[in-house]
Amino acid sequence: MNGLTFTIFGGTGDLTFRKLLPALYNLQVSNKLDRTFRIVIIGRRKYTRESYGEKAKEWVMKYARLAFQESAFDELVQRIQYVQMDFTALQEYNSLNIWYQQGGYENHIFYFAVAPRFFPIIAQGLENVEHACEGKVIVEKPFGENLSAARLLNHDLERFFPDSHIFHIDHYLGKEMVRNIQAVRFMNPIFKNVWNREFIEHVQISAMEEVGVESRGGYYDQSGALKDMVQNHLFQILTIIAMEQPERFFGDDMHQKQLDVLHDLRPVDKLDMKKTMVLGQYRGYRKEEKVQADSTTETYAALRLLIDNPRWQDVPFYIRTGKKLNRREMEVIITFKNVNPEAQANVLIIKIQPKEGIYLQFNIKKPGDSDEIIATRMDFCQSCLESNRINTPEAYERLLLAAVNNEVSWFSKWDQIETSWQYINRMKEAYQKAKLPIYDYEPGSDGVEFSKTLLGGQDWAELA
Ligand code: BG6
Repeated sequence: MNGLTFTIFGGTGDLTFRKLLPALYNLQVSNKLDRTFRIVIIGRRKYTRESYGEKAKEWVMKYARLAFQESAFDELVQRIQYVQMDFTALQEYNSLNIWYQQGGYENHIFYFAVAPRFFPIIAQGLENVEHACEGKVIVEKPFGENLSAARLLNHDLERFFPDSHIFHIDHYLGKEMVRNIQAVRFMNPIFKNVWNREFIEHVQISAMEEVGVESRGGYYDQSGALKDMVQNHLFQILTIIAMEQPERFFGDDMHQKQLDVLHDLRPVDKLDMKKTMVLGQYRGYRKEEKVQADSTTETYAALRLLIDNPRWQDVPFYIRTGKKLNRREMEVIITFKNVNPEAQANVLIIKIQPKEGIYLQFNIKKPGDSDEIIATRMDFCQSCLESNRINTPEAYERLLLAAVNNEVSWFSKWDQIETSWQYINRMKEAYQKAKLPIYDYEPGSDGVEFSKTLLGGQDWAELA
């Protein structure tokens, strides 16, 4: 990280305090920040470096993965310059430019930790900052309120930054076990050679959350579970599970293979919506702060998707996610076809969070005199080992470092975002057109009972 200037627009916002500063602190403690790495915080409020440091301390103590060390934190604060500025006022960028030049700040990475409506004005302002367009920009979802707004935003950003310099964060791509899927899949002949329709019965991707919408009602009510979780995080996982093997696991190769899967999703007009999607809303959602009193936004979504290509023809991919459920648990469950009626299906589970690990169910002869076949399991818990837990960086730590090192496979690409967004929009429209209901569910429950109809009335797979 030589001589880099990492500038955060929105340096006094939630994302910066909760995620970015704790991640930078962890990188500092792990000695991953070069001596010359400098941090510029841009915010409207009045702070000095010292007073900003005081504020940052509370959040770092609360949210950083690694234990608080006063000396490491002080070193982090020494890297920070706080610049008070109204980033919506174009004329202020001239002063920013002079300030950067006087301080010898160059090799820019700009993090837009602000609402997407501010992206174009910041990009335009940066036109007045020398060498800014040679830098990189990191942006986050929500990327716009709807697809056409997102296209416009992207267009505005691309006017200024080349596509290869725009890094779209999907923090699921920084999770240890999401990153592990390709290793499990492609580095083990026992999985690699059976990873297809001949041997796999179905795949389930479950992302259950205990939290509700908390203070984000305004954003969430515009978004809903489909846009908040499915179209980005869960489609990333789906496409890594289903993609063909990329030539390399870095660079753009993976994106292309993931994009191919999105293109192969069965077109929405060929789907019977009743057998494809179930949406729900938890009771009490409409009373949440900043949520419309008559909101029909879904806080739960279950889908049955099909991928029309030779590897996956007719293999259902089930996805479900919801808020205010009875547990926080994210797993990918791959159920293999049963080769013998006396045996149970082999099941491979990739546990993403909160436990991280791999679980495999397979058949053996019952110990003793009996020839009965019984199912048994191997359960590898990666996160149970203290050393693994301590040494596993959090998603934002990984992603900040990946942006610095130009590791583009750790980020989503605009064409992936656009293609999944289009697909999810079509699904939602078809659901509304078919006049299917938004089912109520009890907070603290397993979600919408009716979603089991997607599985032909079967239960969702037991999570390990
Ligand atoms: C965010 C969503 O992208 O991901 C949130 O906006 C959701 O609604 C969160 O709670 C889940 O992330 P994680 O890392 O807690 O699984």
